[in-house]
Amino acid sequence: MRVGIIGTGYVGLITGVGFALKGNDVLCLDTDLRKVEKINQKIPPIFEAGLTESLEKLVPTKLIATSDYSELIQKSEVIFLCVGTPSEQNGDQALNPLLSAVTSVGVELAKTSGFKVIVIKSTVLPGSTLEKIAPLLEAKSGKKTGIDFGIAMNPEFLREGKALADFLNPDRIVIGVTDQQSKKTLTQLYKNFDSPIMLTAINAAEMIKYASNAFLAMKISYINEIGSICKTMCIDTYEVAQGIGMDKRIGTSFLRAGLGWGGSCFPKDIKALTAFAKAKQVKPKMLEAIAEVNSQQPHAVVEVAKRLSKNKTVAVLGLAFKSDTDDVREGQSIPLVSLLVKNKFKVFVFDPEAIDNFKQAVKPILKENEITYCTTSQVAIDSADCIIIATEWPEFEELQYGKKTVIDCRNAFTLANRPSNYVGLYW
Ligand SMILES: NC(=O)c1ccc[n+]([C@@H]2O[C@H](COP(=O)([O-])OP(=O)(O)OC[C@H]3O[C@@H](n4cnc5c(N)ncnc54)[C@H](O)[C@@H]3O)[C@@H](O)[C@H]2O)c1
Repeated sequence: MRVGIIGTGYVGLITGVGFALKGNDVLCLDTDLRKVEKINQKIPPIFEAGLTESLEKLVPTKLIATSDYSELIQKSEVIFLCVGTPSEQNGDQALNPLLSAVTSVGVELAKTSGFKVIVIKSTVLPGSTLEKIAPLLEAKSGKKTGIDFGIAMNPEFLREGKALADFLNPDRIVIGVTDQQSKKTLTQLYKNFDSPIMLTAINAAEMIKYASNAFLAMKISYINEIGSICKTMCIDTYEVAQGIGMDKRIGTSFLRAGLGWGGSCFPKDIKALTAFAKAKQVKPKMLEAIAEVNSQQPHAVVEVAKRLSKNKTVAVLGLAFKSDTDDVREGQSIPLVSLLVKNKFKVFVFDPEAIDNFKQAVKPILKENEITYCTTSQVAIDSADCIIIATEWPEFEELQYGKKTVIDCRNAFTLANRPSNYVGLYW
């Protein structure tokens, strides 16, 4: 099938590469010309396992990138919109970048013949596809949804760091769709995925994505709260998590107590769902509590560092919001480092992949000379009297910490590999 992808960030590029690996012909579009150029040169614009090898294999025979909407709409049978949907200052969803892409699609749709299926893969609040996106497409194209073109909502559940593997082997494929032709096209496109396909209402597909993310964030905030109680009694929270996780109704995943959740999805999606609930006159008490518990986690770490760092010099190892990615968006390392600086610590930082993104992210809140960026983890360790493991990069387990205090905020060490002066945040 000829697949078009609009927005080649984490989701768009992985979706494009994934469909190309499944044998489809993929044309990716981005307004960021540097990304277009990089993809066509087989250079991944983001860090993700398997991406370099995949681009090497697919470009230019099965996948190419463009910035030309006309070319993309003309050539594609099915078009995935994967543009970012960040938060406004007040937590509302910022839909404008996506609507701007939808406008471009509508304008080009007016000039084409043939039934095209437009699929929303970006995370959008319930009602957005049918109440905002479809009417805009109709207005710009002069065509009718379900008759002249199809519309569907296909949320993405990939995890950064394992994005390609997740895209190719999802637990489920959710497709919100009403018209028969779009249903047929999308079930055909996903036919050779070994995963159940759930066909559902478009509003429900939108909500499934938010409800999933809120539930996962809830599990983390829940175990962190349990961990805070355990800590007062010297109970090992990880044993508790294991014990409760063995109950099939609960499950072990997302019960790893630590510094809390961050990233490009949970924070903004929970904010958006909270604001959405309020607009619908529903009090989102649980959603607010999930976020509140999470916002306390960096403070808890700073309190431990205050107790344990004699010289007030700390090394923060790990800046990405999780391992195996260079993404720092809303990572807990950002409030952690700025709180340490505020508390007059001398802060040395290191991350194997995310230093450049971190520098950009903290530009508005920290002066360059308030943190020292280290070229290796060992330089960071040697510079400080207390080490904080903020991201569970596997290589951190192998480092030489000597007698330095190591505050492990991610349960990153197996028992045998724990440094001599080890302090688990919840152990
Ligand atoms: N990152 C994740 O792990 C993840 C997982 C599931 C769902 N999502 C959702 O997927 C969507 C995309 O997320 P992301 O992390 O890939 O975002 P991203 O910011 O990494 O990528 C978005 C891309 O869209 C491009 N873009 C912006 N305006 C455009 C336009 N008018 N035309 C074409 N391209 C344009 C940007 O240049 C950028 O490359 C969001 O709604 C997000 O919530 C993300």
